[in-house]
Amino acid sequence: MTSFLEKIFPAESDIPEAHRITEAIDQREYLINGELRTWQGNLNPVLSPVFVREGGKLTQKVIGSTPLLTSVEAMDALNAAVKAYDLGHGMWPTLSVTDRIAHIEKFLMAMRQKRAEVVKLLMWEIGKPLKDSEKEFDRTCDYIADTIKALKDLDRNSAKLVEEQGFMAQIRRVPLGVALCMGPYNYPLNETFTTLIPALIMGNTVIFKPAKYGVLLIRPLLEAFRDCFPAGVINIIYGRGRETVGALMETGKIDVFAFIGTNKGANDLKKLHPKPHRLKAILGLDAKNPAIVLPDADVDNAVAECLAGSLSFNGQRCTALKILFVHKDIYPAFIEKFKEGLKKLKPGMPWQDGVSLTPLPEPGKTEYLLDLVADAKSHGASILNENGGEYLHTFFYPAVLFPVNPKMRVYSEEQFGPIVPITTFNDDNEAIEYVVNSNFGQQVSIFGKDSQRVAKLMDAFVNQVGRINLNTQCQRGPDTFPFNGRKDSAEGTLSVADALRVFSIRTLVATKSTDANKQIISNIIRNRESAFLSTDYIF
Ligand code: G3H
Repeated sequence: MTSFLEKIFPAESDIPEAHRITEAIDQREYLINGELRTWQGNLNPVLSPVFVREGGKLTQKVIGSTPLLTSVEAMDALNAAVKAYDLGHGMWPTLSVTDRIAHIEKFLMAMRQKRAEVVKLLMWEIGKPLKDSEKEFDRTCDYIADTIKALKDLDRNSAKLVEEQGFMAQIRRVPLGVALCMGPYNYPLNETFTTLIPALIMGNTVIFKPAKYGVLLIRPLLEAFRDCFPAGVINIIYGRGRETVGALMETGKIDVFAFIGTNKGANDLKKLHPKPHRLKAILGLDAKNPAIVLPDADVDNAVAECLAGSLSFNGQRCTALKILFVHKDIYPAFIEKFKEGLKKLKPGMPWQDGVSLTPLPEPGKTEYLLDLVADAKSHGASILNENGGEYLHTFFYPAVLFPVNPKMRVYSEEQFGPIVPITTFNDDNEAIEYVVNSNFGQQVSIFGKDSQRVAKLMDAFVNQVGRINLNTQCQRGPDTFPFNGRKDSAEGTLSVADALRVFSIRTLVATKSTDANKQIISNIIRNRESAFLSTDYIF
């Protein structure tokens, strides 16, 4: 075993005190109908990707457990959400926008108090480096604040009456019903909250099931959820997806399905709904974003962006660059600099200063990655970098595979981990063909200077993917930009403002602009007789 691997996992005494988990967190609480209930049944152990060394032996750290609820508790959550929505007549869906914002603001304040606890659990549960864990927490708080601002803008714009072809109308956005929100393990806080918060603020009631890993980190927020929202508005359940979420979908009472995960998982769950036309889905799914490096690209910039793009959080981002197409004229220089850059990425534990390569949370992930490497090797690829593909338990050192070709699984399969497949091309059409024929269509990155050539590529991709990045890696942010995808990569568009739209529908009150009708409308507005038909707005 290479020497850095022997020392990769710490002894308990090597872990700085502030970052230690000294006692397992055995969570039995879950939130239904405004109550934190205590689960007496089986618990699901939470294994950290971090192994700890003791007496020459490595043991995977068990940091706690979460409730293994069943379909019975899932139904309790559903009944609470259905009751709180009350066919659109519940207190929450009829509450004024100002009041709903006040609840979210109260929650945001309470959430900010829990930063340290959540950040620590992000590190321990999914192995996310400290800085990135802090960034995830802060970005989520910013997202909530921006959502409030966007809703105020929306409300202001909806306050005016419109006149068209002899009609007058007021058009406002109203909630859809009961939303089921499920997030992914790589951004268990941020991605989940980018659907959960808009769903709530627009007046839907919610059942939230945390991701597969990154579950305990929601525990510090349970009291805030309980205290900041009316009973039944937000319900939080745990357990196996098939048993809990499957049962919910089969009832046909879920109106909105917000899911970030695999397209297979999304399909399996959507199919269970007996009335698919009543189900609105907003999905963030698989991706295989390519980078295309043209011969005149600024190599230093392309390398820096491709390194960050393919290996930030060990490549476990849906937006990660998952294959690099490097032009034949530039690949030797590109690969050399890429290897140099990779050497500087520090492997270690999430709390260590400057660390960027950390252990992986998914059980069986290193074996899966090894299979991908073996398959690529059997079809002619080599690992180019020193220590590439070396592993120990949950830690897998990045492997740069070259040259990859269509016979290899890693050419088209989303690795979602620290493997960087590189291929070369001569004719730009080879890269275009790859994107056109891919099952995925999230984003693409182009690196180059020749504006004509870049423009031709851009135009070839605009109907294939949701975002084309020029001389920069693929990414979701800034969160005000639309985030979506084609084919198996997504359904619907998210962004701060778009999310408010997807969790609501426009409803209007319209009438012919006669004097008599104008009088009625004017009375309603002047006397504040309707909550919907009103020209009031929030500053
Ligand atoms: O996993 C997918 C995330 O939405 C990616 O977000 O590009 O900001 O890392 P990011």
